[in-house]
Amino acid sequence: MWLSWLSRSLVLLVAIAQVRADADFMSVRTSLAKDYSGKGGDPGEKYFHESTFHHHYDGRFASNTLPESESAPYLSALIQTYLSTMSDIGAETWIMHGTLLAWWWNQKIFPWDSDLDVQISEPTIHFLAEYYNMTEHHFNLPGVEGGRTYLLEINPHYVVRTTADWRNVIDARWIDTSSGLFIDITAVRKDDDRRRAGRKGAMMCKDKHRYEENDIWPLRESLFEGVSVKIPYEYTKLLQEEYGSKSMTQTSFEGHKFNEDTKIWDRIRGNKHLSRLRGRSLDELPSRTSPLEHRLS
Ligand SMILES: *[C@@H]1O[C@H](CO)[C@@H](O)[C@H](O)[C@H]1NC(C)=O
Repeated sequence: MWLSWLSRSLVLLVAIAQVRADADFMSVRTSLAKDYSGKGGDPGEKYFHESTFHHHYDGRFASNTLPESESAPYLSALIQTYLSTMSDIGAETWIMHGTLLAWWWNQKIFPWDSDLDVQISEPTIHFLAEYYNMTEHHFNLPGVEGGRTYLLEINPHYVVRTTADWRNVIDARWIDTSSGLFIDITAVRKDDDRRRAGRKGAMMCKDKHRYEENDIWPLRESLFEGVSVKIPYEYTKLLQEEYGSKSMTQTSFEGHKFNEDTKIWDRIRGNKHLSRLRGRSLDELPSRTSPLEHRLS
């Protein structure tokens, strides 16, 4: 127990030391303590910008969407690299919304989705902002020449804790610098207003989603796209509230039919090849090549 705590702390120290060496942006981040309590300032200008061609792409890294036949492996590498990086640096995260529903069916991304949703806790967003803002993470990917680099970017307005900051509901992003695809990361915070009104475990996100502490914690362990993932404790209840019970029984969605034998969403008409691409086996996973892993292993 104590030993595992010790090795965890060492891992964190090493990871922090590695990033601290990057003077570029760390030189300005000297204090650990940020304002954990109050509203943390006024609602501000929108920080993250979506591209003009598609709202799930970052226009700094792309000028077009990927062809539909190619986006699936990009999305799966995006979530695999995100989950493995968060786990390596000891940052608590879990999947939510449509991504949780997709997990519920077959632990894979929905073939019709270009969206991935994850959440983190408030201590985690502070930790990431202090030590990992603008860090780049390089991975080797099966069949991808030169691999890919992912960027973790933290919205400076994360310290603003009110839903009035509606332009900045996304607290951080994990961005594929090769395609511009990204994952939105939102922090789940203590809901001060509802707590003052006596609701003990009240939690909220800036995007106005509200939760109870024990809907989310203790997190459960599972797999998504072949890698370890954490799942909110009351996942059925949360999915029911957000999408209705039918979302967990209805086997045709968005032009796809769920095949109970293969556990794959097959296209009802058209390109069968696409469905197979989405349902391909996941025995080859991305592997980190930038320093973090070297220091951890
Ligand atoms: C992260 O770095 C970017 C680029 O330097 C900066 O604009 C942003 O304010 C930083 N975020 C935080 C939380 O400091």
